[in-house]
Amino acid sequence: MRKNIAAGNWKMNTDLSFGQDFVKKINDFELPSDVTVIIGVPFLSIAGLVPVSGKISIAAQNCHQEESGAYTGEISASMLKSVDCKYVILGHSERRQYFSETDELILAKMHKVMEHGMKVIYCCGEPLHVREKEEQAVFVENQLKDSICKLTKEQMENVIIAYEPIWAIGTGKTASPDQAQSMHKHIRGILLNTFGENTAAETSILYGGSVKPANAKEIFSKADVDGGLVGGASLKPDSFLDIIQSF
Ligand code: 13P
Repeated sequence: MRKNIAAGNWKMNTDLSFGQDFVKKINDFELPSDVTVIIGVPFLSIAGLVPVSGKISIAAQNCHQEESGAYTGEISASMLKSVDCKYVILGHSERRQYFSETDELILAKMHKVMEHGMKVIYCCGEPLHVREKEEQAVFVENQLKDSICKLTKEQMENVIIAYEPIWAIGTGKTASPDQAQSMHKHIRGILLNTFGENTAAETSILYGGSVKPANAKEIFSKADVDGGLVGGASLKPDSFLDIIQSF
């Protein structure tokens, strides 16, 4: 059965000492055993947090698609693997928007991450003007067709999908539970058509976009929503704990 997942994405916030205090606070609590807890932290904090992260798995927020070489300022999948990073968030809308990442590039990154035995949290989601025209289903379908649909069934065992409508990220405006459910069902249908029943049933699909303690329970209660990828509300231990306990 697919997993319930509460994942945080700290983006370009926090330093190592914040991270150390945070994971200590979370680990002091008895976490529900049926929820996988992940936090995407800045690159610089990964090596320092993995040894103390306890029940939390540490994710990177990006990585380069090449194995190594003259790519000044970049971080490779093998570097992440060497510090025991378990997950890499790829295709976040902020990377697509500010760093011009395409689905083709994201696919190359996914291959590289999985070659090194790590799992991928693949993000998709439509901008506001697409939602206003009610073309979100086709938009997200095209994102998937150009990326995860080109993976193998075996590779899909290492992929978590996060549906993050761009208009709901950091805006305080959440997709309604029904809007989330409808897109998640659509995504699961694409998985069914592309990979078959098993992959469709086993792939966790997370919702992201202004998830907070006040709305997590209702969103997570939807049949095809398996948890959340949480930005702002994952920066406070208390609110992230509430979200972890919202299943
Ligand atoms: P917020 O929860 O701050 O809206 O961010 C969502 C997000 O982008 C997670 O990756």
